[in-house]
Amino acid sequence: MEFPLVFAVCSTLLLLCSSSAYAQTAKSPSLSPTPTPAPAPAPEYVNLTELLTVAGPFHTFLGYLESTKVIDTFQNQANNTKEGITIFVPKDSAFSSLKKPSLSNLTTDQLKSLILFHGLPRYYSLSDFNSLSQSPVPTFAGGQYTLNFTDASGTVHIGTGWTNTKVSSSVRSTDPVAVYQVDSVLLPEAIFGTDIPPAAAPAPSPEVAPTADTPSGETTKGRSSPTSSPSNSSFRMINWGIWSHLVLALSGVLVLFL
Ligand SMILES: *[C@@H]1O[C@H](CO)[C@@H](O)[C@H](O)[C@H]1NC(C)=O
Ligand SMILES: *[C@@H]1O[C@H](CO)[C@@H](O)[C@H](O)[C@H]1NC(C)=O
Ligand SMILES: *[C@@H]1O[C@H](CO)[C@@H](O)[C@H](O)[C@H]1NC(C)=O
Ligand SMILES: *[C@@H]1O[C@H](CO)[C@@H](O)[C@H](O)[C@H]1NC(C)=O
Ligand SMILES: *[C@@H]1O[C@H](CO)[C@@H](O)[C@H](O)[C@H]1NC(C)=O
Repeated sequence: MEFPLVFAVCSTLLLLCSSSAYAQTAKSPSLSPTPTPAPAPAPEYVNLTELLTVAGPFHTFLGYLESTKVIDTFQNQANNTKEGITIFVPKDSAFSSLKKPSLSNLTTDQLKSLILFHGLPRYYSLSDFNSLSQSPVPTFAGGQYTLNFTDASGTVHIGTGWTNTKVSSSVRSTDPVAVYQVDSVLLPEAIFGTDIPPAAAPAPSPEVAPTADTPSGETTKGRSSPTSSPSNSSFRMINWGIWSHLVLALSGVLVLFL
């Protein structure tokens, strides 16, 4: 008879305590209007493999990342640097529509460089590309492997000489990891040379380019309008706010039970 009563009282007390603790902890962040959360809670681990597995389909690119071991370079940069990382990820269809030049007879080193060419050793939000339009930007592949960016009213265009493409959507854009979907595989001049065939005339096989290009062009038109802001800075702050609430609430509950 007595035990259930004690139990009920105890659990009611506990509930009261925890809810008031939650109320206190939950309120405190909104009281302090600091816009920059200086003591970042233990840097979040972003599993790039998982991110690219869930989004996409990016299976081809992920396969190359793994076979060339570039995934370790990228993951290490994401894990251990303040600069962070920006990765441009072509969809599977970008690889399958890539008839000329083909990646099939690249050497192992060339293939590795081509994949490294898709990453920048720094985190860039979409709006950051505005300030990058002046000069070629170095990639993980180093040396001659640079990318040119132009910002056309909010849409980020990427030029390699061989490839002119654009960011068609943002997979993730939260410091320190940015992952952007691009319409085409980025082909470096450092591998394929500067003898670039005129884009308009893929003479020998005219059926390839139009059929492969038109549908992706259309899908990206639909996609590129929300380029307006998949995540701008205010989104990031809100996001951080939610996380800090969760972490605080969780630690409050833990303290109660320990
Ligand atoms: C990252 O995600 C992949 C795929 O979900 C998983 O196989 C791997 O174990 C994860 N790595 C770590 C370090 O959690
Ligand atoms: C990145 O961090 C995760 C989690 O701490 C770890 O499991 C993984 O081995 C690290 N990877 C690299 C390449 O540093
Ligand atoms: C790949 O092979 C084809 C035909 O053998 C050749 O024309 C082309 O130049 C090669 N590409 C590279 C990058 O070596
Ligand atoms: C990149 O931009 C530089 C100047 O900003 C220009 O000289 C170069 O030709 C461009 N490269 C490509 C591949 O468009
Ligand atoms: C960010 O997005 C929010 C709404 O999503 C908007 O109110 C705000 O003006 C945007 N800020 C910038 C800098 O674009």
